[in-house]
Amino acid sequence: MAKTTGWLEGFNGRLAFAIAASALGSSFQHGYNTGVLNNPQKVIEKWINVTLTDRSEGLVPSQESVTLVFSIMVAIFCVGGMIGGAITGFVAERFGRKGGLLLNNVLVLFAVISMSSAKAAASFELVILGRFLIGINSGLNAGLSPMYLAEISPVNLRGAVGTVYQLVITISILIAQVVSLRSILGTNDHWPTLLALTIIPAIFQIATLPFCPESPKYLLLSKGRELEAQKALSWFRGTLTVHEEMDGMRAEYDAMKLVPKVTVRELITNNALRIPLIISMTIMVAQQLSGINAVMFFSSEIFKMAGLNDENSTYATLTIGGVNVLMTIVSLFLVEKAGRKTLLLIGFAGMAVDTALLTISMLFADKSRAFGIICVILVVIYVIMFASGPGSIPWFLVSELFSQTARPTASALAVCINWTANFLVGLAFLPLANLMGPYVFIIFVVLQTLFLLFIYKKVPETKNKTLEEISIMFRQQSYQ
Ligand code: GLC
Repeated sequence: MAKTTGWLEGFNGRLAFAIAASALGSSFQHGYNTGVLNNPQKVIEKWINVTLTDRSEGLVPSQESVTLVFSIMVAIFCVGGMIGGAITGFVAERFGRKGGLLLNNVLVLFAVISMSSAKAAASFELVILGRFLIGINSGLNAGLSPMYLAEISPVNLRGAVGTVYQLVITISILIAQVVSLRSILGTNDHWPTLLALTIIPAIFQIATLPFCPESPKYLLLSKGRELEAQKALSWFRGTLTVHEEMDGMRAEYDAMKLVPKVTVRELITNNALRIPLIISMTIMVAQQLSGINAVMFFSSEIFKMAGLNDENSTYATLTIGGVNVLMTIVSLFLVEKAGRKTLLLIGFAGMAVDTALLTISMLFADKSRAFGIICVILVVIYVIMFASGPGSIPWFLVSELFSQTARPTASALAVCINWTANFLVGLAFLPLANLMGPYVFIIFVVLQTLFLLFIYKKVPETKNKTLEEISIMFRQQSYQ
């Protein structure tokens, strides 16, 4: 068992700098581009309309074809995410965690050039291409950044540091919601600038991350560079006395030499790896099928269903963004105290009860204004429940559940399935809502309840356990 220490022990300025350099530059892309097209939908659809009309020499396109182009713009981001997620393992091993993150900024550059020249070139295809590229970038970030964070953190801080990835996502969704308001950049003239802003965190990362060392675990366990690993670890810990931690890593390195590289096939067929793989992938799917992005993408539609006018629904959406950030900050402190499993259970149980109440309130929303207000409050509570654990934990749990040889491949599979589920919710929610009305939320209630049972039965507590102890636990389970 790892030593129990004060939970801030091991935290220092350099670690904070490395966390900022890796997380700000990477999860910003993920969050910002998730939220950025929500508000300016009408403005961009108008431009698509004009572009299509010009191309067909004055023939006005149908609203369906305009909406289709816009939906592709939205959804292609997740398709990119799936691809980026799927190649995480390869990139993490070939270029390193830090190396991969840095290189990934090239995609941001191409994406921004493409999106910001689209209007001048009268080509919505360029926006679609840019969203696809920034999607690949975000998928890669979602694998590389949590992996780097988990590998550089002292064990007592791993959950809190891992939560920073999600915290930056929530902050950047909120920033996107604010800057895309009509009174700021969500206008006919300025939407290309809005899409181009995503270059700023890339510049920040290129200016800061080179000063941080590569992950010590990668240096030793993947590359066998012991001296460099020790230097890197000393840098992160701010002390030369890192013998104990180095010994742990060396023991893992020796054990690893006896095991061949873990392939996807190995992950599926080996019992000790299959169990954590199923847990990681299910938790990722659970995060998305909890319905969070139905709220993040379509909150205005949901609030309209609850009877709010345009202006009020914009305010309600901003409130949701703010609450998401605040509660993620709270969860950063809770995760090392309450533990991962407890927070996941509370989060999913809370969402299930809340979504059930939301379904009922929605049914009465058009009959009384009070029910409309109750609906908004319930959506806010839903986001609080999501942000208490289900938002942040899946991202770093994957890195916690696997030892070094299996981590990159497992992360690739888990991140890829997260984006796939994200894509499906984005695609299916509105058509299902049109078909089923408020009853659409029952689908989420059923799914949240099933995931709650799964977490209760299968997910182990990983708080305060070293990554090595966690793999031993699964190895023992596989013999039972
Ligand atoms: C998680 C989800 C992401 C969602 C966000 C909302 O990071 O993976 O899809 O938009 O939470 O906070």
